Formats: sequence, structure tokens, C-alpha cells
Amino acid sequence: MGSAIAEGLLASKFCKPADITITKRNLETLGKLKEKGVKITLDNNDAVQNSELIILAVKPYQVSDVLNSFKKKLSTKKILVSVVTGVLIADIEACIETKMPVFRAMPNTAISIRESMTCMSYTNAASAHISLVKKVFLTLGKVVVIDEKLMEAATILGACGTAYAMRFIRANIQGGIEIGFDVKTASLIVEQTVKGAAELLLQNGSHPEQEIDKVTTPKGCTIAGLNEMEHQGFSSSLIKGIAVSYQKIAKS
Ligand SMILES: NC(=O)c1ccc[n+]([C@@H]2O[C@H](COP(=O)([O-])OP(=O)(O)OC[C@H]3O[C@@H](n4cnc5c(N)ncnc54)[C@H](OP(=O)(O)O)[C@@H]3O)[C@@H](O)[C@H]2O)c1
Repeated sequence: MGSAIAEGLLASKFCKPADITITKRNLETLGKLKEKGVKITLDNNDAVQNSELIILAVKPYQVSDVLNSFKKKLSTKKILVSVVTGVLIADIEACIETKMPVFRAMPNTAISIRESMTCMSYTNAASAHISLVKKVFLTLGKVVVIDEKLMEAATILGACGTAYAMRFIRANIQGGIEIGFDVKTASLIVEQTVKGAAELLLQNGSHPEQEIDKVTTPKGCTIAGLNEMEHQGFSSSLIKGIAVSYQKIAKS
């Protein structure tokens, strides 16, 4: 996630490569970013001391050790952004013991191609801090500010949502092969059709049913197939799956 954010910032020319520092214990995997001019180091303290905006992208169980390792270098003049799943802003504040702008952001894997949906919440942030962090994630996709209480729901809909969409796409490809296409052609048709459908909603600001009405002819093939999907529990299974994912994250 950290490398994907760096790649996205470079691709969008948000800043110069030398303005980005990435830390990691094993630097071997950062060869490509190093070649592009990004600073890489093992030293979290040094990186934090020399940075205005710090993005924390480690596994949840690594958070307290990593924060403790550099918290003395934090100050009210810096901004801390965590993309770590399930770690509350309050947990971060308790660990760092510095009253500073703290953001929690939930992007998804499409951040690597600058098409993320990022949900974010924050505390102690002035409008300049909010604008800067929004600007970072806007270069990497779309951004919505939410109440932190909705961050688990955002994880399900925005981050797990990528996996749900992939299964929908895969099933379409399987159907496409059954009705006569080779896998390559079926994949291209499905991927572009799904992308176009999402763009119709984003660009028209319409409701899915309005777009469906444009495609369905009375007694036609689209409505016949759609109704059969519903008889088989299509919408219901998706909603139930989302609810089960949410129950799981809410309990953990
Ligand atoms: N993947 C997603 O779709 C997604 C979406 C939203 C949020 N997130 C969250 O983003 C976070 C990162 O996810 P990920 O998939 O990118 O995990 P990941 O691939 O395991 O990345 C974690 C990184 O932290 C580094 N790291 C660990 N300890 C460190 C230390 N002491 N100092 C510096 N670097 C350290 C690791 O590198 P070394 O081992 O070399 O140190 C590794 O590169 C997770 O909390 C995840 O929940 C992920």
C-alpha cells in the first residue's frame, strides 16, 4: 500500500521524487522506486524528522512498535496519516502522546493505478491540513470524508468491494465463455462494459435503475435475464455477503 501510494504520487507529479522518503526493514523490494529518485531508508526516525506528512502503512499488529520507534520526532507541525485497517485515531493518539493532526484513511488496491476510493476521517486538523491530505488522495482517485464510526463500513464497501466486484466480473466472463466467446475476448468485453457502467453512474449522477431502464425492452432479453438473476437471489446474496463481512469486521 505504501509503495502504491508513492507510485501514484510520482505518476501524478504531485511532488518531486526526492520529496518522498520510504522506510522499510528490507529495502531490496524498493529498487524501482529508488531508480526513480525516491529516498529509501531503514531509519524511521530520520524519515519522520525530515517529513511534513507521514503515511503509516504497516500491518495492524506492527503499529504500536513502529509509532513508538519514531513518536519523539512527531510535532504539531507535522501530519500523521494512517491507512492501517482497524486501528482507531484514539489508539494512535494514545500511543504518540502528541496532540497533532491525525488522519485515518481507507484506500483500496486501485490506488496503484490512481483509481482508489479513499474514505478518510481526522482529528485536530485545520483546514490547511485537511486540504493537503485530500489533495494527496485526490491524486490517487476519489475521496470522501466520513465519520470515523463508519470506517469499518467503509472498509467493507470500499476495500473489500474490490473483491466483490472481481467475483461479479469473473462470473460474467464465465457466462461469456458459455455463450461462445474465448476467455480473452469475453474478459475484454466484460471489463470494459463494467467500467463503462460505473462511469455512466459517476458521470451522469444517475441511479442504477435509471440506467437499467434504458437497457430493458418490454418482453426483451435483458429483463428476462435480470429477473432470473433476482429469482436466484442475486441482489439478496450480495447484500447478505456485505452484511456478513461487516459483522466479521465489527466483531474483530
Ligand atoms: N491492501 C489493501 O487493499 C489495503 C487497503 C486499505 C488499507 N490497507 C492497510 O494498509 C496497511 C498495509 O497493507 P499492505 O497490504 O501494504 O501490507 P504489507 O504489504 O505487509 O506492507 C506493510 C509494510 O510495512 C513495512 N514495515 C513493517 N515493519 C516496519 C518497520 N518497523 N519500519 C518500516 N517499515 C515496516 C513492511 O516492510 P518490511 O517488512 O520490509 O519492513 C511492509 O512493506 C495494512 O494495515 C492494511 O490493513 C490495505
